Amino acid sequence: MTWSLGELIEKRRPEQYGLHRRYVNPSLARVQSIIGFDKLYRRGEGAYLWDADGNRFLDLLSGYSVFNLGRGHPVVKQAMHDALSLDRPNLIQMDCPLLGGLLAEELVKRMPPGLDAVFFANSGSEAVDTALKFARAATRRPRVLYLHHAFHGVTLSTLPINGGRQFREGFEPLMEGFDAVPMNDLTALEKQLRKGDIAAFIIEPIQGKGVYIPADGFLPEAQRLCRKYGTLLICDEVQVGMGRTGRFLCAEHWGLEPDIVTLSKALSGGYVPVSATVTRRKIHDATFSSLERCEVHSTTFGQNELAMAAGLATLHVLDRERLIERAATTGEKLRKGLNALQHRYEMIADVRGKGLIIGIEFRAPRSLKLRTAWSAAETAHKGLFSQLVVMALMQDHHILTQVAGFDVNIIKLLPALIIGDEEVEMAVSAFDQVMAEAMELRGRVWARSADLIKAALGG
Ligand SMILES: Cc1ncc(COP(=O)(O)O)c(C=O)c1O
Repeated sequence: MTWSLGELIEKRRPEQYGLHRRYVNPSLARVQSIIGFDKLYRRGEGAYLWDADGNRFLDLLSGYSVFNLGRGHPVVKQAMHDALSLDRPNLIQMDCPLLGGLLAEELVKRMPPGLDAVFFANSGSEAVDTALKFARAATRRPRVLYLHHAFHGVTLSTLPINGGRQFREGFEPLMEGFDAVPMNDLTALEKQLRKGDIAAFIIEPIQGKGVYIPADGFLPEAQRLCRKYGTLLICDEVQVGMGRTGRFLCAEHWGLEPDIVTLSKALSGGYVPVSATVTRRKIHDATFSSLERCEVHSTTFGQNELAMAAGLATLHVLDRERLIERAATTGEKLRKGLNALQHRYEMIADVRGKGLIIGIEFRAPRSLKLRTAWSAAETAHKGLFSQLVVMALMQDHHILTQVAGFDVNIIKLLPALIIGDEEVEMAVSAFDQVMAEAMELRGRVWARSADLIKAALGG
């Protein structure tokens, strides 16, 4: 009997969550079920998903910013088919593969001046890990600075620069010499830089956890200070790069010229894990400093043909469909629509973002009866209100969103860059209805609060 993926999926589909409860991550499976995200999706295309009953869901998560082109883009899909059917000589290792060279060339074209050397890996964390190693090798300094609330991954080398207490807890001791500075605090930054032992200052130009945007002067001045004290500036563009903010790199909004840039997520076209660390030749060569050291940093699948093909096709589509410009204009419309809601619903404290990364922050209501419900929810679990909104959007409007981090009342939107007026209208109208219901204690939004509180308290 021949093996068929399609048949396997059809036969075992109903067991999806059971398998995960048994063999993978039962806690995660339970959370999906509690918040009503335990759907049996059958198909994904563009900005939408469909479940087994044919219900359509608008995906404003995009796999955490993997699907900038939308799901199943035909050009990337074809590139995947081609890479297989051409029987490309993949992963020879003892060679210099063409597609890796071509993707490096395309990335360099899109970088700020002077960034002309590329290292490929498989994940965002690996790209960051590479950046940290490059910075240490190039500066011969031990320490690294990062920002409060930062997220650069959860591996042992990226946890010391992770601003989330919950991510770090239980994994100590972490590597030493990694210190946080508050965003927008140039004095604190300079105080650290002045010590002269900082290899790199790593930033997300817009922070993913909370969608925090630095004040306008902060990043350019931070870059100037880094130069002054011989510290390298690393821009982690794993989430906000690849056009998401309306520029290829988010760093372009402030005219930054970082020493190292990391990319991943959307570079994959949503198909094959891939990441890139792009830097100056001199910095790169400080790691690969002799013939003997030509492989002191490497990863087996780093330049695999499928990943390189996906990256090349993705960059082509970003340009051809002018998706970066589109992200800027659609993002503006979406923010405008959501901003208008802010004026109508006191619980919306802020709507912020650039292009198609948008954060919606909530605050306690003024009215006494709502305040009691809010306090009960927040006492059980900080940020629980935003989870209620995420649940309402999903269960009542079939829209996928996410809470933007631990302990925050912020929702993050990361839609595919291909969305248009129809999706903007759907999202704004759904938010409008959810917020209107949230003003009513008897509405569906608060009705879910008791269950969630029970779950949060371990019931
Ligand atoms: C800014 C940033 N850096 C690094 C990472 C880690 O990427 P990965 O999960 O692919 O290791 C992420 C993941 O969300 C990220 O947002």
